[in-house]
Amino acid sequence: MTDFAPAFARRTHHSGGNELAAILAGSPPGVLSMTGGFPNPATFPTEELDELAGRLVREDAAVALQYTPCEGIASVREYLADRQEQLQGRRPERNELIVTSGGMECITLMCQALIDPGDTIAVEAPTYLAALMAFARAEADAVAIGMDDDGLRVDALAARLAAGLGPKFVYTIPEHQNPTGRTLARERRRELVELCRRHGVLILEDVAYRELSFDETALPTLWSLAPDIVLQAGTFSKSFFPGVRLGWAVGPPEVVAELAAAKQNTDQCAGGLGQRLVEEYGRAGGFERHLPAARELYASHWRALSSALTRHMPEEVDWTEPTGGFLTWLTLPKELDTLTMRPAAIASGVAYVPGPPFHVGDNGRNTLRLSFSHLTEPELETAVERLATVVRGALEPASASPRARCL
Ligand SMILES: Cc1ncc(COP(=O)(O)O)c(C=O)c1O
Repeated sequence: MTDFAPAFARRTHHSGGNELAAILAGSPPGVLSMTGGFPNPATFPTEELDELAGRLVREDAAVALQYTPCEGIASVREYLADRQEQLQGRRPERNELIVTSGGMECITLMCQALIDPGDTIAVEAPTYLAALMAFARAEADAVAIGMDDDGLRVDALAARLAAGLGPKFVYTIPEHQNPTGRTLARERRRELVELCRRHGVLILEDVAYRELSFDETALPTLWSLAPDIVLQAGTFSKSFFPGVRLGWAVGPPEVVAELAAAKQNTDQCAGGLGQRLVEEYGRAGGFERHLPAARELYASHWRALSSALTRHMPEEVDWTEPTGGFLTWLTLPKELDTLTMRPAAIASGVAYVPGPPFHVGDNGRNTLRLSFSHLTEPELETAVERLATVVRGALEPASASPRARCL
C-alpha cells in the first residue's frame, strides 16, 4: 500500500491533536457527557424554523438557495449592522462587516490573512482549544497570558508587550470564556484596548457566549470601545443553532477586506439559506422571543451543577463561577492528572475535557472543563457524583475528606 504520510504538509505536524474531533464525536452510550459546548436542543426554535425554512424555499429560492457574494447577502449585512447597533451601541459601516460561516471560520480567516509561520499570537491561558489548534496549523507561536477571576490579566500582557513581545494579534473571549466561564471585568476592557492601541496591536475578540448572560448583563464589547483595533468574531451557534454555521466578522475595513479575500479560498460564501434564516428570524423578533428562556435554562443548569459540585466534590477541588454561557473550569490538587484520570471517569460513566488541550505547552494537567448546557439537571447531579467518586479515588485516602461547605 502506498504510504502518503510523506506527502502531508508540514502544518499537519502542528495540528494540536484530535481533542475537538473527539468532543464532536460524542461519548459512548451510558456515559454522561459534560464535554461539548453544545447548545441544548430545547432552545432550538423548531416550529418557527419549520415555517420559515419552507417559506424561504417557496418564495425566495433564487436568493436563499443560490451562491451569495463573498461578504454575504446585502440585506443580511444590513440586518447584522442593525443588530450590532442595537446590542453593542455602534453601527458598522458597510466595509466593516462581513458574514462568516461561524466563529471558527473567522478565526481561520484571521490566520490566513495575518499569520506567517513563526508569527506570535497572544492568547489567554487557558483558551478555546479549537483556536489553539488553528493557530498551531498556521504555524504560529501562541504565547500564553495569565488570567484571574476578572479575565485576562492586562497587567501581564502589558509587561510582555513592554518587554518586546510583538504579537500579530491578541485573541480573547471576554464573556463566559471557553473554557473557564470567566468574564473580563469592565475596567479591564478599557485598559486592554488602550494598551493595544498604544502598541499598535490588533485584538481578535470572540463573542461566542456573549448573548447568554444568565441575568442579561452586557458589558461594552471591545469592538464598541475600539473599532479601530478590534476585529470581532461572532456566531449564531449558541444563540440560534450550530447547524446554521453562521456568524459575522466586524472590524477595521482593511482587515475585514483581507478576511473577505481569504474567504474566496475557503468556502467562497456562507450558505445563503442560513443567512436568510438569520435575517428573517431576527427581523421578526425571534432572538428577543427565545433568548430569555434559553438564558434561564442555562442559569438553572448552572445552579444545579454548582450545588452538585458543592455537595459532592472533595474540598481540595475548586471551580469557577460563570455568570453565563455553558462552562465551568475545575482545578484539582496538583498531584492529579486529568488526562490519565479520564479512562477511569469514562469507565464510571462520566466524561469531561481534560485541561491540557486548552493550554499552550503541557500545562494545566490538574484542570478540566465541564459543560452544563446539555445534560438534564438530574443527569448533572449523577454526573458530578460519579466524577467526585473518581476524583476521590485518585486522591490519597487521607486527603479525601468530604467537602466542608455541604449545603
Ligand atoms: C469561544 C468559541 N469561539 C468560537 C466557537 C465556534 O463557533 P462556530 O460554531 O460559530 O464555529 C466556539 C464554539 O464552541 C467557541 O466556544
